[in-house]
Amino acid sequence: MAKRISPFPRNFLWGTSSAAHQVEGETRNSDWWHWAVSGHAPFPGVGCDHYRLYEEDFLLMQKMHHTAHRLSIEWSRIFPQEGVVNRKEIDHYKKVLLSLKDKHIQSFVTLHHMTSPQWFSNKGGFKNKANNHFFLDFVTLCAKEFGDLVDFWITVNEPVTYAAKSYLLGNGPPGEKNIITAFRVFLNLASVHNASYVRIKKTLPQTQVGSSHVLTEYVSGGGVSGFFLPSLFHFVNNSLYFILTKKSHDFVGINCYYRAHISLSNLYRGLKEEDYEGVMRDERHDLGLFLDSTSIYTLLKYAWDVMKKPLYITEHGISDPTDTKRIGHMNDAVTSMQRAREDGVDIRGYLHWSFLDNYEWSSGFSSKFGLVSVDPKTKKRTPKKSARYFSSVIKRNEPLGSENF
Ligand code: BGC
Repeated sequence: MAKRISPFPRNFLWGTSSAAHQVEGETRNSDWWHWAVSGHAPFPGVGCDHYRLYEEDFLLMQKMHHTAHRLSIEWSRIFPQEGVVNRKEIDHYKKVLLSLKDKHIQSFVTLHHMTSPQWFSNKGGFKNKANNHFFLDFVTLCAKEFGDLVDFWITVNEPVTYAAKSYLLGNGPPGEKNIITAFRVFLNLASVHNASYVRIKKTLPQTQVGSSHVLTEYVSGGGVSGFFLPSLFHFVNNSLYFILTKKSHDFVGINCYYRAHISLSNLYRGLKEEDYEGVMRDERHDLGLFLDSTSIYTLLKYAWDVMKKPLYITEHGISDPTDTKRIGHMNDAVTSMQRAREDGVDIRGYLHWSFLDNYEWSSGFSSKFGLVSVDPKTKKRTPKKSARYFSSVIKRNEPLGSENF
């Protein structure tokens, strides 16, 4: 008989993850807003209108038994122009965080999730180390203003993806395609994380500070290059950030999406098709990313071995317009986390990407990552079957075979 694995501990955190620009709507002073307005990406508009409807969204999360939520504070709202602080926006985020607290939903607050104020980008953004102090001022202000309302701080989101998207592939502002610059931005973000860690801890010594790092399992895509390329990718994309930031994490946030099949011919096809992510997979969903649940197990083990700090999955999800694959993917993820726990990994929470069908950067609203759909006109929220499945998992605190649902 198969061994019965114990449920997750009672204080295991369950919820969803989001980012301001992807759900709030009208982040007019951000570089991504300008990028879209100038025709480089779909127009975000009011989007999910979470800026106005946050209370309704949090009530729904509460009804679904969620115990945590990850959101980001939009830097360009707080500092719309260089040196100008918008107090009204500070008050807004206080209300948002208070609303989560009232509902006993713990908050994970990200300070940089892909977007920067346009004025900061005009100065060269994170390409210039000399600009870092602008972000650090924002970090300090957030620690002072929101300190008692935040449970977990996430300084930066996916430095590897941000550098690759905006400075190597040119898919995000400022749209550069230069591998040296991309690498410089990545290194700088690692040092920005370290400096942010110090800033937050100085103001709030007891608080929990970490970051969200995307981990990918790299396996051979065949051919001779398949022998050494996966190790190279693993080192550059997974290990290096941990090496550079090891001492500045109270917990580690991990974003897991896919397993990549690496070989020279796959990479060449990827770059040619400008679908870099799409070819490094063993199956595609509509964005070309594929997650194999065993990756979560392998990646959690890896992160634990290297960092030896509490781990949280701060993103995992699938764009699934028909909501037919999501339940299976979630079940696989939860089972993999449970296996990792049994093997001694200190995994303490799972935040699904995402609560709402939201603005998915270059693919706009055509991707459907949400547990809850949003009517484009009325903004009415409708929970999907996978949302109900997730609530059942949370109530049981253990996997619930997708066949049982
Ligand atoms: C990003 C999210 C994005 C998600 C799905 C992550 O890399 O942090 O902003 O929506 O992937 O593509």
